[in-house]
Amino acid sequence: MEYKQSHLEKVVNTTMAKKIIVTGNQGYIGPHLTRLLLDKGYEVVGIDNNYFNEDCWFFKPGHNFTQITKDVRNIEAADLEGAYAVCHLAALSNDPMGNLFEQLTLDINHQASVDIAKLSKEVGVERYIFSSSCSMYGVAGDSALDESATQNPVTAYAKSKVYTERDVLPLLSDDFSVTFLRNATAYGVSPMLRTDLVVNDFVGAAFTSGKIVIKSDGSP
Ligand SMILES: NC(=O)c1ccc[n+]([C@@H]2O[C@H](COP(=O)([O-])OP(=O)(O)OC[C@H]3O[C@@H](n4cnc5c(N)ncnc54)[C@H](O)[C@@H]3O)[C@@H](O)[C@H]2O)c1
Repeated sequence: MEYKQSHLEKVVNTTMAKKIIVTGNQGYIGPHLTRLLLDKGYEVVGIDNNYFNEDCWFFKPGHNFTQITKDVRNIEAADLEGAYAVCHLAALSNDPMGNLFEQLTLDINHQASVDIAKLSKEVGVERYIFSSSCSMYGVAGDSALDESATQNPVTAYAKSKVYTERDVLPLLSDDFSVTFLRNATAYGVSPMLRTDLVVNDFVGAAFTSGKIVIKSDGSP
């Protein structure tokens, strides 16, 4: 009888879809990540406070998953319990916003990211995957950089990523995996299109005005 119960539990556990929390899932990258995870058979729970509301959708993705509308600064244990992984994307995600709202950028991008990582570990989440940024290298000359390059963050946004990595890394343990994705600037179409990103901005300007405005000396 004991064998049958534990065997049953094993079967149930291995056939149940693993739950993955995606914060910031209603932004530019989030809908793509959500679709990829759903295609892989994961259960997805999105957490986003919908800074970009209904009118901002370029097109609706039409995915079937659970959405929690909430500020990531208010995430509680109950929001994370039972999840296998947290993909943490939510952030004020560009330099102009960071310049206008420096403290808010640090509160959301740094403090909340660290709090969520700590809470994730406490409730038994196995993996914390943080959307960091290559902007942490800042002004770094012409040669190629790797993960060991000196960090030189020049904006509140870039600093928030550096501080988060610094404060989350010590949580790493045998049962809590931590990953930092230092992404470069993305481009291309998304259900929640960002037209502030450089290639998208060029495409938008070329399409609407027939001109591309290059704001630096053009060498990049
Ligand atoms: N897009 C890029 O090129 C790029 C490059 C490097 C790193 N990143 C990082 O990847 C992540 C996602 O980027 P994106 O381009 O999709 O950004 P985005 O601005 O399009 O989306 C961010 C999402 O987070 C949500 N959000 C912001 N503050 C929140 C809060 N306090 N509580 C709940 N939700 C909140 C917003 O509503 C939005 O849906 C960000 O962390 C960003 O820093 C993006």
